[in-house]
Amino acid sequence: MRPAFAPATVDDRPWELLPAREQPDWRGHPDRPRYVAALRASPPLVTERDIVTAHRAIAAVAAGDARLLQAGDCAESFAESDPASTAAKVAVLADLGDLVARRTGDEVVLFGRLAGQYAKPRSHPTEVVDGVELPVFRGHLVNAPEADPQARVADPRRLIEAYRASARVMAGLGVHRGDGGPWASHEALVLDYESPQVRRGEWSGDRYLSSTHLPWIGERTRQLDHAHVRLLATVANPVACKVGPGATPDEVVALCAALDPGRTPGRLTLIARMGAERIDALAPIARAVHRAGHPVVWLSDPMHGNTVRTESGEKTRHLATMIREASRFRTTLEALGLHPGGLHLEVATTGVTECVGGPVPDEGSVGERYESLCDPRLNPAQAHELIRSVF
Ligand code: PEP
Ligand code: CO
Repeated sequence: MRPAFAPATVDDRPWELLPAREQPDWRGHPDRPRYVAALRASPPLVTERDIVTAHRAIAAVAAGDARLLQAGDCAESFAESDPASTAAKVAVLADLGDLVARRTGDEVVLFGRLAGQYAKPRSHPTEVVDGVELPVFRGHLVNAPEADPQARVADPRRLIEAYRASARVMAGLGVHRGDGGPWASHEALVLDYESPQVRRGEWSGDRYLSSTHLPWIGERTRQLDHAHVRLLATVANPVACKVGPGATPDEVVALCAALDPGRTPGRLTLIARMGAERIDALAPIARAVHRAGHPVVWLSDPMHGNTVRTESGEKTRHLATMIREASRFRTTLEALGLHPGGLHLEVATTGVTECVGGPVPDEGSVGERYESLCDPRLNPAQAHELIRSVF
């Protein structure tokens, strides 16, 4: 079998010289260079051809002819990279996608937050568990979630483990892909993981990120002159970027210029995560991006701007608040004559009780089945209610 990508050279990695936030504390680890080199030599996880096909599918959303649903865990677990777990995630995505299709009358392009969603940006570097201060869990790519100081040490061996887990999930996705997806997507956060997976495409000679079809930049790492924006500006994949309420129209237009200089339909997806109280920030940004000529896809992430804590300290989100934000997202874009491209959700495959609403009556019920490794996810019934309320 011929390789789908040729390795890029070091000269091809200009972002490695730029500052980067949210990186694991393992730079001095003696084994780090060995694992990074092993990643560089490993086969690509996705093909150039599939990236191009996924790009075309997103272009149909940009044209207003389709919708996009991006959903999955906040943080994936290595333990759930087996075929049965992947099949369960694909089934939930397909079911939610069918619902969006029925409600909107449009075709739906599916993306999972999976096959690489193993690294988390965090608001605080440490947390206190039972009176003990520990480094915070940063995703299976970096450390382990157990409340134990040893488990929380950043370990670069996890670069390889994350690659292998992603490969298992990709294989599971391939079995179910058919024509309807889902494609893979994750936050491109840990540069030691992403950078070695930048390759030259065989057909085009372009640089591709071979770790996923659609990488995105998170709200905490979208600084214009930092490494994450430069990395995704350099690769030919379709890319996405979160946009929070602190962003100004000028800032987002500058991000668009960096990430979508060719004004190419399908190239750039912007994921609004304003919070229900600050969704007013969307209209001036969407107007400015449109006037600057960028044919972006707009998605609503009604989760990350609406996180609150219960009295007992669990992170949660209220379905009613999320519905309010996503509905305002839709009406705001429609009032501007723009296409509300779809939703970006954190959803579990089972009846977890992490968010309030629908089958979870109040904050007192939130702890009953709280299984997320990071942020609170909707259960499938709650996701149904959200989609039915928004579309
Ligand atoms: C996430 O999607 O899990 C996340 C951390 O989002 P944001 O970058 O929008 O905070
Ligand atoms: Co999250």
